[in-house]
Amino acid sequence: MSFHPVMSYGAEHHQSVRALLEEGPPFAFTPERRATLEEICRRYPPERRRSAVLPALYLAQEQQGYITANVARHVAEAIGITPAQVEDVVSYYTMFFTRPVGKYVLQVCRTLACALGGAERVVEELSAKLGIEPGQTDASGDFTLVEVECLGACDRAPVVMVNTDWHECLKPGDAAKLVDELRARGTAALTGCHLKRE
Ligand code: FES
Repeated sequence: MSFHPVMSYGAEHHQSVRALLEEGPPFAFTPERRATLEEICRRYPPERRRSAVLPALYLAQEQQGYITANVARHVAEAIGITPAQVEDVVSYYTMFFTRPVGKYVLQVCRTLACALGGAERVVEELSAKLGIEPGQTDASGDFTLVEVECLGACDRAPVVMVNTDWHECLKPGDAAKLVDELRARGTAALTGCHLKRE
């Protein structure tokens, strides 16, 4: 497998260039998430509600799993910007998905420190274990595999981000076990991973 020349950045799940989002099903925040968003918006001056665009998108993605045109319209209305401005943000950040993803999104860092630590082998092992290539979701619908750039934990390379948590110091050979543990124990499998070197 060629590591760096391939720049998929989660193709199929994230728009790396500006493109129209899928229309998707009707979308509105649940009352609880709307209340959370209003609480976040109160941290900013009233004329700066737009500053809450990232948390608003996180809340939407938490609710629906991925961002659609209907989500963009609802978020835009909620914080007082245009749907196109919301799309601009979605197309810039790799953490927002524009296609359905699995219950666990495995984002393998492929930047220098992780690459030197064996990230390419980690990707190969995860691909073999799940029967998919980066950018795909496995047959069970539980796991999506994505390659990303630096996750900001270079001293603990190689790093795999599982949803919003980091799994650090992952050695080649650990990857299949990580999948087995996630299947068996869910995110509890990650407990303590941040302390691996302490
Ligand atoms: S290079 Fe992988 S976390 Fe920075």
